Amino acid sequence: MMRFLPILFVLLFSVKTSANSHEDFLQCLSHFSEVIYTPKNSSYSTILHSAIGNPRFNTRTVPKPLVIITPRNVSHIQTAITCSEKHGMQIRVRSGGHDYEGLSYLSWMLPFVVIDLFNLRTVTVDASDSTAWVEAGATIGEVYYGIAEKSRTLAFPAGLCPSVGVGGHFSGGGYGMTLRKHGLSLDHIVDAHLIDVNGRILDRNSMGEDLFWAIRGGGGNTFGVVIAWKLSLVQVPPSVTVFEVARNSLEQNVTRLVHRWQYAISKFPREFSFKVYIARANSSDQQGKTAIETKFSSMFLGEVDKLLPMMQKTFPELGLMREDCIEMTWIESVLYFYGFPWNGSLDVLLNRTSRLPSFKGKSDYVKQPMPEIAWEGIWRRMNLVDVRRSQLQLTAYGGIMNEISESSTPFPHRAGTLFQIQYAVVCNGDDDLKASDQWHTNWIRKLYSYMAAYASKNPRGAYVNYRDLDLGVNNLHGTTSYRQASIWGKKYFGNNFDRLVRVKTEVDPTNFFRNEQSVPPYHQYLSNIEGRATYDS
Ligand SMILES: Cc1cc2nc3c(=O)[nH]c(=O)nc-3n(C[C@H](O)[C@H](O)[C@H](O)COP(=O)(O)OP(=O)(O)OC[C@H]3O[C@@H](n4cnc5c(N)ncnc54)[C@H](O)[C@@H]3O)c2cc1C
Ligand SMILES: *[C@@H]1O[C@H](CO)[C@@H](O)[C@H](O)[C@H]1NC(C)=O
Ligand SMILES: *[C@@H]1O[C@H](CO)[C@@H](O)[C@H](O)[C@H]1NC(C)=O
Ligand SMILES: *[C@@H]1O[C@H](CO)[C@@H](O)[C@H](O)[C@H]1NC(C)=O
Ligand SMILES: *[C@@H]1O[C@H](CO)[C@@H](O)[C@H](O)[C@H]1NC(C)=O
Ligand SMILES: *[C@@H]1O[C@H](CO)[C@@H](O)[C@H](O)[C@H]1NC(C)=O
Ligand SMILES: *[C@@H]1O[C@H](CO)[C@@H](O)[C@H](O)[C@H]1NC(C)=O
Repeated sequence: MMRFLPILFVLLFSVKTSANSHEDFLQCLSHFSEVIYTPKNSSYSTILHSAIGNPRFNTRTVPKPLVIITPRNVSHIQTAITCSEKHGMQIRVRSGGHDYEGLSYLSWMLPFVVIDLFNLRTVTVDASDSTAWVEAGATIGEVYYGIAEKSRTLAFPAGLCPSVGVGGHFSGGGYGMTLRKHGLSLDHIVDAHLIDVNGRILDRNSMGEDLFWAIRGGGGNTFGVVIAWKLSLVQVPPSVTVFEVARNSLEQNVTRLVHRWQYAISKFPREFSFKVYIARANSSDQQGKTAIETKFSSMFLGEVDKLLPMMQKTFPELGLMREDCIEMTWIESVLYFYGFPWNGSLDVLLNRTSRLPSFKGKSDYVKQPMPEIAWEGIWRRMNLVDVRRSQLQLTAYGGIMNEISESSTPFPHRAGTLFQIQYAVVCNGDDDLKASDQWHTNWIRKLYSYMAAYASKNPRGAYVNYRDLDLGVNNLHGTTSYRQASIWGKKYFGNNFDRLVRVKTEVDPTNFFRNEQSVPPYHQYLSNIEGRATYDS
């Protein structure tokens, strides 16, 4: 009973005061009205829709922000934080908008404000000391472009999709086709500028090593607003080798191929990164069963003459041929893996628009090779006639990932991980409550429970950048307990979760920066209620 009284109190209180506080809040922001968009403004909807990575959250019924703020300088963000605190507004920070659950532009707890960082996206590369300062509204495509303007032998390890934002990406991990050689994006961040809950601008020195540790992997919208990252760039050879070969179950035994791939991973040199994409094919086999289509996709930091004998030795079953391979520069490989013509203009990297269908995603880490029968169970599930489009993406781990300790950053999935799985299924998109979407979401949940036997355990690991609210959510009205949050928190952060909670308790004890899956402080329940009462009275 005790537990529920204060919640009621807060609910009643916010209903009573909301109309006034909205006006007061807008008043508080009024001295930079040129970057404030309320729903009355004709640009509001264009700006809101400009970075909705998952159209599942682009429906009429999804709650919309009271205002969108598009800061042009840091003082706009500081004021936005102060005004939001004063008037009991929740903020959502958006960089590239690719959050799988839309948490950078939607909240079910009203009212909320979106701070969209797209005006703050300068990329400054210093090739002479192999570093770059990158503002938090930049996309990884803009980072790649900025590097390529200065050098063709410098690179940065990050994801494949150029429109992903550095704000979210580097706050959760960031990996791509150099994972086994260079690790994650966050392994190469050497400084950052952050605005904390008091509106102060901190750098690595003034924030201290605990907070600097936490913001590199502890998840976005939790410790403050990152305004810029300093990257340490990596060296790549002038020429890399790429290939993407398709294998269809009509012609090949893909079960055997994928099964063997698992055993080959630990033999690959770290210069070699490897993904396998798996989907249902359009065609069917002799028994009338829909075929399974795989794509083996790799990059080798070196020349084809070295790659071929290595493949012959480690994974001859694939039957890789010289004509499957292309030598190119690293920046061309970025275009290649995203499906652009690799010899075309780099300008495509500056396009911030992504066009994905509505989807639901999940992730797993696998530590032991899965038996053939397990893979066949997956094919059976992918073959269910009603699953319109589903995809599995396997990413080989190992290499340098085995050598970085679990606690060196909040990202814990290091030594002992054989590969990562991303599951994705396409939903309808018109209205997320439609029965068919429900069907697809249930389908992926069932696949996930089938996989429990083969995935990592105690806790079952997941990638925070493939955010999945099925793993558990906070109660945004202030009742999240440590125990409740640790259910999803230990999956994303393993043993690092406790240190994240300690840092959070120190830097944001009233839990101002929060969302459905942000690390909460200890005693969040009490402090939040007190905080609320103070603001409102
Ligand atoms: C098409 C697609 C391809 C992808 N490919 C890869 C890949 O190859 N490798 C990989 O590792 N991941 C990949 N991802 C996942 C991606 O890394 C995450 O979705 C990432 O969080 C997106 O960052 P964002 O800035 O675009 O997202 P946003 O939705 O803007 O932000 C994500 C979270 O971070 C918070 N946040 C954003 N900016 C800041 C800031 N400046 N300060 C504090 N908090 C902030 C947001 O509030 C939100 O909680 C992909 C995602 C998609 C949709
Ligand atoms: C930021 O913008 C505001 C006006 O919106 C201006 O008053 C202020 O001087 C600017 N600050 C900087 C550092 O440019
Ligand atoms: C919309 O907001 C922008 C930026 O604040 C402003 O320049 C513009 O005049 C506004 N338009 C309308 C119709 O209110
Ligand atoms: C694929 O190969 C495995 C042995 O590696 C065998 O058990 C299985 O029956 C084969 N499947 C097909 C369809 O040939
Ligand atoms: C499968 O069929 C769909 C619809 O007919 C088509 O759009 C798609 O390109 C096909 N995919 C492949 C790999 O052939
Ligand atoms: C890229 O390569 C293709 C195929 O080799 C060729 O047809 C095209 O002209 C090339 N484009 C450019 C911009 O060089
Ligand atoms: C940017 O990408 C989107 C989505 O793929 C595409 O529709 C649009 O035409 C592209 N814009 C430019 C200028 O190339």
